[in-house]
Amino acid sequence: PQMSIDVVSIFPEYLAGLQLSLIGKAVDRGQLSLGVHDLRDFTFDRHNTVDDSPYGGGAGMVMKAEPWALALEHILAGRGSAAVDEGADGARTAGPAVGGKPTLIVPSPAGQVFDQRIAEDLAARDHLVFACGRYEGIDQRVIDWAGEHFDLLPMSIGDYVLNGGEVASMVMIEAVTRLIPGVIGNPESLTEESHEDGLLEYPIYTKPANWRGREVPEILLSGNHAAIARWRRDRRLERTADVRPDLLEKLDDLSKDDLAALE
Ligand code: ADE
Repeated sequence: PQMSIDVVSIFPEYLAGLQLSLIGKAVDRGQLSLGVHDLRDFTFDRHNTVDDSPYGGGAGMVMKAEPWALALEHILAGRGSAAVDEGADGARTAGPAVGGKPTLIVPSPAGQVFDQRIAEDLAARDHLVFACGRYEGIDQRVIDWAGEHFDLLPMSIGDYVLNGGEVASMVMIEAVTRLIPGVIGNPESLTEESHEDGLLEYPIYTKPANWRGREVPEILLSGNHAAIARWRRDRRLERTADVRPDLLEKLDDLSKDDLAALE
């Protein structure tokens, strides 16, 4: 496969949705290998305990270090075989892991905010591991330990709080895997998307040309490709200025026509 992804969670069923749609097809085609691991498989007491109360007091529970270390060691131990040595000629199309280490993404509201640039960076790596914490988080010592074996990336998907890392991991996995060459059907559909070049996407229409009295913008029926391209870019500029002026401020390569459209 071009990329291996492992996810560790106490709710592995949560990740079942990843088998559906484009990601499942990429797995079926052998482009992607996806391993979902139950953290409780790495506990040895009668109750499969994964959490305990915080040192120093405070509300909630903390995930214990040892099950996480055992789960991550299990994943590291599996790397010689399927994850890394795939391909008869040893050639790999995906970019190397940083410093030869796999990447460990720890979803957390205290992480760096995930965006399309980070998705592109991660899409070029060959082994991503997602550690889905629950409760108040994971004992910091096993995170520090993991930093010696992985390229460690605490990652937030936005400034709000979720109950655990599962949904955040699924968000990041979907954003990353669709960028792997060959995973999405039509690579051109990646180029004019929101967040690819800093502008939001233009509005789109399909048949019928008149729907409940609402007409499709006439220019789209004109067959004038240059005029359509200009119209679409103007709509992107207009929409971005309206909804996300912060994105527009970051652009430094606007043409005269672009600036005129923003007047
Ligand atoms: N876990 C809880 N909240 C989160 C967030 N906003 N992003 C990533 N992981 C989280």
